[in-house]
Amino acid sequence: MRPEAPSAAASAVSAPPDAANPIILARDLSKTYRNGKLEVPALRGVSFTVQAGEFVAVVGPSGSGKSTLFHLLGGLTQATGGSVSIGGTDLAPLSDAARTRLRRATIGFVFQRFNLLPTLSALGNIELAHEISGLKGPLDRALLDHLADLLGLRGRLEHRPNELSGGEQQRVAIARALITRPAIVLADEPTGNLDTKNSDAVLQMLRASSRELNQTVLMITHNPEAAAIADRILHMRDGEMTHIEQGHREVPV
Ligand SMILES: Nc1ncnc2c1ncn2[C@@H]1O[C@H](COP(=O)(O)OP(=O)(O)OP(=O)(O)O)[C@@H](O)[C@H]1O
Ligand SMILES: [Mg+2]
Repeated sequence: MRPEAPSAAASAVSAPPDAANPIILARDLSKTYRNGKLEVPALRGVSFTVQAGEFVAVVGPSGSGKSTLFHLLGGLTQATGGSVSIGGTDLAPLSDAARTRLRRATIGFVFQRFNLLPTLSALGNIELAHEISGLKGPLDRALLDHLADLLGLRGRLEHRPNELSGGEQQRVAIARALITRPAIVLADEPTGNLDTKNSDAVLQMLRASSRELNQTVLMITHNPEAAAIADRILHMRDGEMTHIEQGHREVPV
């Protein structure tokens, strides 16, 4: 099972692993936030590549630029300098509409603050992700059942976000990211609100998606145990990537 490719941009993304053609390429990426006269250099010249199917963790202290990197890789914020290419497509020259299409077809996001739509039920949020992805065909009910089971969301899908606990909202956000089988999953602290059991379930799911569906996963985490299941761990500090480490931990079963 491979991620479906609804557009030319997405089919480029689901190409086989190839060191010369990484699925994510960040080159000398920088971001400075400007609030009036105040400048915050959140990211300072970060370069790295991720191959299709790789599971990469990004770790670093609070404020080191991890979420900034996440937003830039997903084309949600514009870089101050450098470039991001997704499946060989440089995001910078794309129109807003083309960037949005590429993003919706290619990337599943799990946001640090979930970003669920408050007026929709959990199921409504998941269905919306499918609707806007551009995927042809109906929502994959078997995958939805599978995700709901593994994430312990059965019986909670009709509830709105404000009727769910933080951990439940986080798990809905994860189901929403995975329901389209995106080529790339970007997850910002996906286990931040979860207990050990649910955290292990999420990590197993992401690990399995990467191995079995050749999904590329980039997961930001504060938790060294979570990071250790990745193929590689990118360490950040003060807006820079300081070093890259090999992961080593087997996923608990
Ligand atoms: N919109 C913004 N305007 C101004 N500064 C910002 C903005 N967003 C982030 N920053 C600053 O940029 C730096 C990096 O923030 P970022 O959210 O990327 O850190 P992080 O590594 O994700 O931290 P955490 O682990 O706490 O989530 C911080 O100093 C933060 O205060
Ligand atoms: Mg963050």
